[in-house]
Amino acid sequence: MEETRGRVTRDGIRIYEDADFQGMRTAGRVAAEILDMLGPLVHPGVTTAALDDFIREEIARRGVVSATIGYRGYEHASCISVNHVVCHGIPGTKVLADGDILNIDVTVIVDGWFGDTSRMYGAGNVPRKAERLIEITHESLMRGIAAVKPGNTFGDIGFAIQSYVEAARMSVVRDFCGHGLGRVFHAPPNVLHYGRVGSGAVLEEGMFFTIEPMVNLGRPETKVLADDWTAVTRDKSLSAQFEHSIGVTATGCEIFTLSPAGKFYPTQD
Ligand code: MF3
Ligand code: CO
Ligand code: CO
Repeated sequence: MEETRGRVTRDGIRIYEDADFQGMRTAGRVAAEILDMLGPLVHPGVTTAALDDFIREEIARRGVVSATIGYRGYEHASCISVNHVVCHGIPGTKVLADGDILNIDVTVIVDGWFGDTSRMYGAGNVPRKAERLIEITHESLMRGIAAVKPGNTFGDIGFAIQSYVEAARMSVVRDFCGHGLGRVFHAPPNVLHYGRVGSGAVLEEGMFFTIEPMVNLGRPETKVLADDWTAVTRDKSLSAQFEHSIGVTATGCEIFTLSPAGKFYPTQD
């Protein structure tokens, strides 16, 4: 859709207006509410297709639109990435086993605004090392978000995430990044989850983007499977991800995809 209001920075990043925050707030809340419903459905024996069917039906029931169905040929209402799948896992016949960890990523369009968020879930008893990966990944996202305020840079966000993750002896995926969004799904900038303090574009009030770090227990390298979507760790180590959609405010940022029920992390209590 052609954007007509607001302005675009030298780096090609759209600056939204005060009134636009309400659109993002509503879209973000719908996406978060759908993720809030999934905890009780995730358990050993369930297929990822069954989870996606639930999400598709819930999106329809709410009278909103899935951003992923029909996006570049993708046919599902979510991405479900299990264990060593880094992102863009395709829901299907895979049956969850005890101890599996999975990211569920949902993007909805509400009145033209995009709400994009993902969280980690566990099936049955999750091993301690997987739980620790999830905990570090969540905290890395929150540290990235804490670096968001006008005058800071995108590099400051990346540095906050990377330095925390690497201190925990885990690795940050380089091959996928966060993105601007708003009335479009993916827009400039690429939001890197690694970087140097003071590098990259300067943050300004009115920027809308996602932060969605993918963290691996082993090495950072990924590869995309023959289905052209599923990204996995090359060394088959476990991977985790959390994603929020946020907007830069005068003093910091607003998280549009907070869980109304406080279930973002931990996911299942
Ligand atoms: N929601 C994903 C993101 O965070 C994008 C999924 S695109 C799909 O940007 F086509 F794979 F669904
Ligand atoms: Co995203
Ligand atoms: Co997403």
